Amino acid sequence: MSESKRLAGEKAIDYVEDGMIVGVGTGSTVAYFIDALARIKHRIDGAVSSSEQSTQRLRAHGIEVLDLNATGPLPLYVDGADECDPQRHLIKGGGAALTREKIIAEASATFVCIVDPAKQVPVLGRFPLPVEVIPMARSLVAREILAATGGQPVWREQVTTDNGNWVLDVHGLSITDPVALEATLNQIPGVVSVGLFARRKADVVIVGTPTPTVLD
Ligand code: 5RP
Repeated sequence: MSESKRLAGEKAIDYVEDGMIVGVGTGSTVAYFIDALARIKHRIDGAVSSSEQSTQRLRAHGIEVLDLNATGPLPLYVDGADECDPQRHLIKGGGAALTREKIIAEASATFVCIVDPAKQVPVLGRFPLPVEVIPMARSLVAREILAATGGQPVWREQVTTDNGNWVLDVHGLSITDPVALEATLNQIPGVVSVGLFARRKADVVIVGTPTPTVLD
């Protein structure tokens, strides 16, 4: 499994161009990308990070981490996913970094998603859908998600996001219209962000097969 992640992470270096500020996601696949990025760090102008975890790894390699407010739009964002459908819609947030990931994806011209083959599914939803919520709205949001979707929200106890919020994981969904579900869940007061990357999906998916497969 980790060999697949390494292959995907290293292949994403093909998308890095000289002088870029690179958006960097979170997770074990991205860790391989960061390590590969470190080998060409003299060619880039820095990175914008989606989590404290990735910030630490970037800084440990001597890659400067910049504030998105200072950089403006980014040319490239590289991140992993928990599930990916054939249209390049994603479920993300298994690492609880979904909100910052969504912000950087939105700010980026090209979103390259790096996955191992097990992440590919015909229909999203086998992986429980993460939803970041304001803590006081946890029960309200859970009730409204159940009513709107029939999915079973489970509080990811003991996890607080980098933004000080909580996460509900919604089980039992079969997401045949990801754009519509993302819009519906985004309207519930107390929802900070939904781990469906559908309206802003990946532009490119790299699957870490021995000769990495590129879907675009
Ligand atoms: C973190 C994420 C990750 O991209 C996702 O969980 C995949 O992680 P990994 O590369 O470790 O399998 O969305 O919030």
